[in-house]
Amino acid sequence: MLVKAAVLRSGNGPFSVEELELSEPQAGEVLVKMVAAGMCHTDLLSRDLPPEFFAGPQVYGHEGAGVVEAVGSEVTDIAVGDHVVLSFNYCGDCTACSKGRLPYCFNFGAHNMNARRPDGSSAFTDTNGERVGSHFFGQSSFASHSLVARPSVVKVDPSLDLTRLGPLGCGIQTGAGTVFNTLGVEAGSSFVVAGAGALGLSAVMAAKVAGATNIIAIDRHANRLELATRFGATETISAPPAELTGLIHEATGGGSDYAFDTTGNAEVVRACQQGLHNIGTIALAGVGFGDLTFDFLSMISGRRIVGVMEGDATPSEFIPHLAQLNADGQFPFDELIQTFPLDQINDAEAASASGQVIKPVLLFE
Ligand SMILES: NC(=O)c1ccc[n+]([C@@H]2O[C@H](COP(=O)([O-])OP(=O)(O)OC[C@H]3O[C@@H](n4cnc5c(N)ncnc54)[C@H](O)[C@@H]3O)[C@@H](O)[C@H]2O)c1
Ligand SMILES: [Zn+2]
Ligand SMILES: [Zn+2]
Repeated sequence: MLVKAAVLRSGNGPFSVEELELSEPQAGEVLVKMVAAGMCHTDLLSRDLPPEFFAGPQVYGHEGAGVVEAVGSEVTDIAVGDHVVLSFNYCGDCTACSKGRLPYCFNFGAHNMNARRPDGSSAFTDTNGERVGSHFFGQSSFASHSLVARPSVVKVDPSLDLTRLGPLGCGIQTGAGTVFNTLGVEAGSSFVVAGAGALGLSAVMAAKVAGATNIIAIDRHANRLELATRFGATETISAPPAELTGLIHEATGGGSDYAFDTTGNAEVVRACQQGLHNIGTIALAGVGFGDLTFDFLSMISGRRIVGVMEGDATPSEFIPHLAQLNADGQFPFDELIQTFPLDQINDAEAASASGQVIKPVLLFE
């Protein structure tokens, strides 16, 4: 079938909206008619990588939401007409998957990042018959229709608004999951989040639900810090990295219980790690490159550092849970969304880069 998709033809972009040919679903796949797809910073990762890492023209998008139009012969628990949110893919067989730690799948790269299925094939070809990469995070959802790997598919309540749910598939799940699952932030505790974007603000909302008393948000955009306050931050900080540790100690009376980095900036991470008290824990989700160093003694004191993928979530359980919290009025992540038609995908990227829009969501007719 012919579909309309946003293709990235060079690592630096822009996206070009094109007609592509989509093949038939394989046995373990689901054909999804997309209603909406969130844009996450990870869709733009190729911007930060040396050109040799660019995997060729491909369709990004890993926060899809839509309706099932067909299922492959081995898919028995998803049916035509189901409303679905799309999340990351995993192998189901490795040590991490067998322990239920799906975001840490040992074969994560092959199932999510290679612009192809694990068997090397792709679902899309362009009008010149050239291959275009598919299956980004098992879904490549910047497309009106896409073939999605079964593990990426999460069924949701059909009474919910699909134009709002896609971001639960990655950014919002990661921010909230880090608070609830990775760190286990508890009532009465202090929580610092560096970066008040999609991950950071959903973490603020989750910390409020968890009952944290001190919720401190750090960012360089004043508008984002205002949002942090609206969603539950008790204090906000805008300062260069060298000043952060002192300000965190001041705000928490000697150091925080928890910290969460979403900036991927090594200096910010170090400042927040130094801002913990002796037995505090920092979780790292922001993507950075190169080495990250810490003072030896600051670790031996009892501090913990943990890397986090996708908020340690099991999407089939966590996404419906977050959707329910939202429906109950406790987790207003949908207020971070601004919608754009697919044709305006480059404007959506620019609005996110400037700090103006927190969570762009593309709409398909
Ligand atoms: N580990 C995971 O599973 C996972 C999942 C989704 C996204 N990510 C990554 O998490 C990061 C955040 O994603 P997002 O969608 O929230 O992005 P975002 O751009 O919306 O938010 C990042 C925020 O950090 C702030 N920031 C950056 N450097 C700063 C500094 N030096 N001082 C103060 N503030 C600073 C920015 O102003 C911005 O508001 C990205 O690197 C993304 O690739 C990781
Ligand atoms: Zn696995
Ligand atoms: Zn993402």
